[in-house]
This record gives sequence, structure tokens and C-alpha cells, in this order.
Amino acid sequence: MTIDTVRVELGARSYDVRIGEGLLERAGEEIGPLLRRPRVAVVTDETVSKLHLQALREGLGDVSMTALALPAGEATKGWKEFSRTVEWLLGEKVERRDIIVALGGGVIGDLAGFAAAVLRRGVRFVQIPTTLLAQVDSSVGGKTGINSPHGKNLIGAFHQPSLVLADIGLLATLPARDFLAGYGEVVKYGLLGDAEFFDWLEANGPALAAGDAALRQHAVRRSVEMKAGIVARDETEEGERALLNLGHTFCHALEAATGYSDRLLHGEGVAIGCALAFEVSQRLGLCAQEAPSRVRAHLKAMGMKCDLADIPGDLPGAEGLLQLMAQDKKVQDGRLRFILARAIGDAFVADDVDTGVVRSVLEEALAQRR
Ligand code: NAD
Ligand code: GLY
Repeated sequence: MTIDTVRVELGARSYDVRIGEGLLERAGEEIGPLLRRPRVAVVTDETVSKLHLQALREGLGDVSMTALALPAGEATKGWKEFSRTVEWLLGEKVERRDIIVALGGGVIGDLAGFAAAVLRRGVRFVQIPTTLLAQVDSSVGGKTGINSPHGKNLIGAFHQPSLVLADIGLLATLPARDFLAGYGEVVKYGLLGDAEFFDWLEANGPALAAGDAALRQHAVRRSVEMKAGIVARDETEEGERALLNLGHTFCHALEAATGYSDRLLHGEGVAIGCALAFEVSQRLGLCAQEAPSRVRAHLKAMGMKCDLADIPGDLPGAEGLLQLMAQDKKVQDGRLRFILARAIGDAFVADDVDTGVVRSVLEEALAQRR
């Protein structure tokens, strides 16, 4: 199969996202041109390390590699493992002109990218995303960071990678639940800005989830093209980039409410959040009545969570969820910002959403849990 290249155009900091099967095996050739000396420091997690680190070592050929494997999971994305990583990189004598490699999902990409941003005031890094979520979203665009007890992703920096290698073959070992969670972010791209892509997902989503590599490559490429375009136009989220947060105001509140545990994965929260955002849009008379049903129908057809009723265990009431939303990074002057939609494929940033409508959508969704 061919390898696709999507360029993220950011002037002197532009970079390629390479997408296809077999990229890990040719990591040395891909990363080699960036290296000033034949050596990389790899940050990964224990699960990915067991599955794919040896293949990376072989793929790097003459480039020597040192590696740190952190515990897998969202809890790693905090100060403790972050400072451990920075100290490890210093202990490994990673220099200003060296390259750090993030091999893993969004947790590793965000944490290692942030470590690269602060180490010696900034070291270049390469993302090798191993989850669908990381391939279509977190590895591209330079948002790096960790969580605080005050909330998710509240500590971080913009630091663009120098290269992204999205090896579609690595998705074969991903558990189905993690794959579908990543698919939540794929659907998000169709919903926010490409109705034809959403049509395509409705037709091809099930075969893609079942393992069709060509369909997977197309979905990753289209998602990355959309993200690359938005990031090139609005790198630091002054405007358009906020569209990428479709579903995220709800998602971040739900993740906080479920303690960032495996009761709800990030991409699952995004999918539920997208369904809620379309529900709010419809209640506000912004989009047609059929739109939220169509979003839900596709998520259901994929076997994904799409309602608050699909989240196991207790949740706070509507008021509690609204309070958690107020902690979101998108709060401006104390006002909640939502990404709403005029139609599938046509989202926009709404600054003055009637909280009463959001509350009643949440109340009705919570009532379905009883
Ligand atoms: P993750 O990194 O925790 O990976 C999910 C699980 O899959 C982990 O247990 C991991 O060990 C395992 N795994 C990874 N690759 C595997 C593979 N190929 N085979 C088998 N198992 C594998 O989670 P994620 O869903 O990739 O990322 C979620 C994180 O990404 C969140 O912290 C979220 O905030 C962040 N995120 C960041 C951005 C951004 O722009 N920076 C965007 C979206 C999400
Ligand atoms: N995932 C949201 C962004 O990159 O802006």
C-alpha cells in the first residue's frame, strides 16, 4: 500500500504527517534526515513497549535507541510521570539538537511532547502515534501537556513535532474499545466540517472498524488533512481551531465526573459530547430535527456509546455537570463556549449559549439513565 503525506504548513516549523502501513519498519529512513547524531530517546508506555518497541528498534537500523516505558493509561499524564520523564531524558544526556520520539497513544504523545517543549528550553520530537485517536488528532497540531488535579490538560505548551509517522498497521493490536474511542474523533471531523466525509463514514465505518486497511488509511488521511488545514490557519486557537473541540465541553465534564477512569475513555466522551452538542443545536433551532438522530444512529451502528445512559456508574446531576463545564479551558470571561452546528458538516463557535437549554438537554439525558 502507498504511504500518504500530509503537510502541516507552519512556515519554518512545517512538517510532514506520513500515513500508511510499514512506517515503523522504515523509521530509520524516515527519521534519519532529522538527526544530527545517530541516536534517539524514545518515550513509550508499558503496553506499547511490549508490542512494538522491538520493531521500532529494528526499524531504526543504525540509529541507536534508548527507551523509557511509563505505565499505560491516563493517570500517567500528570506531574509525577512527567518529571520522571524529564529527569530520565536529562540522565540520558539528550541534547538540544537531539530528537525525542513519542511512541504511543495520546497520553504518551502529550506528555513526551511537553517534556520535549521544556527540556533545555525545547528539543525537537517525532510522534509515532499508535492509537487511532493519536493518529487522527493528538499527534498533529502541537498541543502538548499534562493534567492537573484542577482539570484536564491545564498544564502544557504548544510545541509542534518535526515529523509524524502514523503507521496504520499498529492499529491491528489496538483493543476494539480503544479503536472505537478513536473513531469518535474521526466522526468529529465529518460533523464539524465535511458532510461528505460523514456520509462516507456512514457507508464505510463498519468495514473500517472490522479491519479494512485501505479504509482505515483513507479515514486517517482525511482526518489529518482537516486538522492540518485548521492548525495551519489558526495554530494557537484564536478562532477556527476551537471547532476541533466539538463535543469536548461535555466530554471534559464527563471525564472529570468519571474520575478520568476507564468508565469513560476520552474518545467515548467526545462521541457522547458530539451527540449532545447536536441536541443542543437542534433545541436552539440551529439545525434540523433529523441531525442529532442521524449522529446518534451512526454512533449506535458502530457499537459506540452515544448517550449519558451508556456511561456505567453514578453521574452528578445537570447542575453538577454544568459546574464541571465551567472549569473547561474554553471558558472566557466566565462564559461557557460551545461548539454548535447548523448542520452535519457545519459547526461554529457559540459564545452566548443559553445555559437553561444546556441544563434541560442534560436533565433529559440523565433521566434516561433511570
Ligand atoms: P492512551 O494513550 O491512553 O492509549 C489508550 C490505550 O491503548 C493505552 O492503554 C495504551 O497502552 C494502549 N495502546 C496504545 N497503542 C496501542 C496499540 N497499538 N496496541 C495496543 N494497545 C495500544 O489514550 P489515547 O486514546 O490514545 O489518547 C487519549 C489522550 O489524548 C487523552 O489524554 C487526551 O486528552 C489526549 N488528546 C490530546 C489531543 C491533542 O491535541 N494533544 C487531542 C485529543 C486527545
Ligand atoms: N484536539 C484539539 C486540538 O488539537 O486543537
